[in-house]
Amino acid sequence: MLAVEKLFKQYTSEDGTPGGGVFGASFEIAEGELFTLLGPSGCGKTTTLRSIAGLEKPEGGRITLAGRAIYDAAQGLNIPMYERNIGMVFQSYAIWPHMNVFENAAYPLKVTRGHGLNAGQIREKVRGVLAMVGLEEFINRPSTQLSGGQQQRLALARALTREPALLLLDEPLSNLDAQLREQMRAELKRLQRETGVTAIYVTHDQSEALAISDRIAVMENGLIKQIGPPKDIYERPTSEFVANFIGSTNLLRGALKSDATAGSVGMIETRLGHLTCSFTADVKASPTVGVVIRPENVVIEPAQSDAAAAIPETNRCDGTVVNETYLGEIVEYETRVGKETILIRTRPGKAISPGDAVVVHFPPSQTLALIEDGHPADAA
Ligand SMILES: Nc1ncnc2c1ncn2[C@@H]1O[C@H](COP(=O)(O)OP(=O)(O)OP(=O)(O)O)[C@@H](O)[C@H]1O
Ligand SMILES: [Mg+2]
Repeated sequence: MLAVEKLFKQYTSEDGTPGGGVFGASFEIAEGELFTLLGPSGCGKTTTLRSIAGLEKPEGGRITLAGRAIYDAAQGLNIPMYERNIGMVFQSYAIWPHMNVFENAAYPLKVTRGHGLNAGQIREKVRGVLAMVGLEEFINRPSTQLSGGQQQRLALARALTREPALLLLDEPLSNLDAQLREQMRAELKRLQRETGVTAIYVTHDQSEALAISDRIAVMENGLIKQIGPPKDIYERPTSEFVANFIGSTNLLRGALKSDATAGSVGMIETRLGHLTCSFTADVKASPTVGVVIRPENVVIEPAQSDAAAAIPETNRCDGTVVNETYLGEIVEYETRVGKETILIRTRPGKAISPGDAVVVHFPPSQTLALIEDGHPADAA
């Protein structure tokens, strides 16, 4: 449905030097997919969306929507935004306060002269969209008399009335409180499924991205670091940046003697001795390769226990528990292993307390050797 190829846009900073932007982002989105751009503030998410919408003129690359080029630097082609059939929901100017609910939702049809619809048909259509977002009963209410969540739903309704080929959502939930946000994100996902609209969702909230996306593109400094389904991004990050940005993780450093390829298993020499690791990306030989393992993937057992005796020799270390945090469903153990402090999460119920000697195990399939930060192998 959408193809973005080598999108490039660089702003100029206030002092005249080259500033931030997007530096060669490429991705494709299938029809009906919910695709998320995820990354820290300033990484280029909004710039990417604005370029797709036609609100920003990029300097390089090509954008194709439903088989038609809407931007092509090489050909000097830039289709104006109102001819792109794209719906947008932005965080800041969500709705128009001087219009009531009906007028807000009907606006996109009015500006396009109703798509050839008469007043009765417009009313019918708007009523249908408002019903879909649960605002039908408020149809004649001034839009300023809606709650924050209702205003966001109205903004969404307005973006959907024109049946856009593509829906762009730029942090649409960020000004809602935490509870409403969780509720709205489930509703958003349901609506997107029901309408089958292809959507790009922008957020810097990793749990939001994991919860609603079909696929996620993680961005840093104007570059896409990794694209994949939420499970892949979480379980098989290919770079330290992605591993650190999504969820908490333990990071060790070690030496890799010779280049390794994605999908292979190999040895890294760390301060905890030789660890057998899985490579999720091609990694060059280096004395400072990153090794990451999620806290919930580290095995911990009381020293001298039967369970500890059953732990294999590979990636097995002795440690001492320094701190215990009880979090209800899980317990977190801060554990001293050699010169490293390892965070471990398990279900409650193990006979382990601070000060206890433990055996710790890093399962090789979940101990990942990654591309270090500052080695953007995927930037080329
Ligand atoms: N109009 C502008 N003029 C100059 N620099 C800009 C402009 N708009 C954005 N930038 C810069 O471009 C980079 C990318 O900005 P962008 O708005 O795309 O980030 P973002 O990922 O959407 O961040 P956030 O999560 O904070 O919304 C930033 O470094 C930003 O400062
Ligand atoms: Mg932004």
